[in-house]
Amino acid sequence: MQIDILTLFPQMFQGPFSTGIFQRAIDHKLVSVNIHNIRDYTSDKHHTVDDYAYGGGAGMILKPEPIFEAVESIKSDIYREKGGGELPIILLTPQGRLFSQQIALELSRYSHLILICGRYEGVDERIREHLVTDEISIGDYVLSGGELAAMVVVDAVVRLLPGVLGSEASTLDDSHSNGLLEYPQYTRPAVYRGWSVPEVLLSGNHAQIARWRREQAIIRTLERRPELLDKANLNLEERRLVNRLSTSPTLPPSDEIH
Ligand code: ADE
Repeated sequence: MQIDILTLFPQMFQGPFSTGIFQRAIDHKLVSVNIHNIRDYTSDKHHTVDDYAYGGGAGMILKPEPIFEAVESIKSDIYREKGGGELPIILLTPQGRLFSQQIALELSRYSHLILICGRYEGVDERIREHLVTDEISIGDYVLSGGELAAMVVVDAVVRLLPGVLGSEASTLDDSHSNGLLEYPQYTRPAVYRGWSVPEVLLSGNHAQIARWRREQAIIRTLERRPELLDKANLNLEERRLVNRLSTSPTLPPSDEIH
């Protein structure tokens, strides 16, 4: 996958993309990330990227010209080198659709993404209307720009690309990938400060372990994010478990449910 990011602050991207699985993904050529400085696409001598809002109001607005120029130049390079194909052009903005694991999965299926980091008080509306194909928000709060949001999106997408994580299975149980939060995890020692790992995990019985984990994922979701259960893919028995637990005054401790 190739990801092109347009920003006024390229230096912000130095750290996150040169560590851990990300660096490994780049080294293995599973992903390439190109950071473009929007200022490099200006044509006036002051390299102006923003201007006052028509109609007045506080704050500066990102001008359309450098962003159109940048996206069109990147697009034509991509089409020249790799041919056509659908190419999402995504603006990071608090006004976008709310990012989710589902959207990360959707984006991970493209061979290219272009991300535009908004800044200041906003971007000229013509960028929204005539250039971008999607707008994404990472949450209902306002950041000082789209850079951190772009990093969040890129991180969530890249770890889903085949070969990036050690084992393909390791993303399947992630919180949110099956509509549920992840079950509790333990490692050695089996007893730490008197706190034991649940017996079932030491049993070696894989069917029982899978069942326990599924139930724990459901219980955890019910406790912390009950609204997620409306959309989760539960069988009849699991729906009954949810109904039983929702109507009981307190949820039972984890080792009582098998
Ligand atoms: N830019 C500023 N705030 C943002 C948010 N919450 N999500 C995406 N981009 C943003």
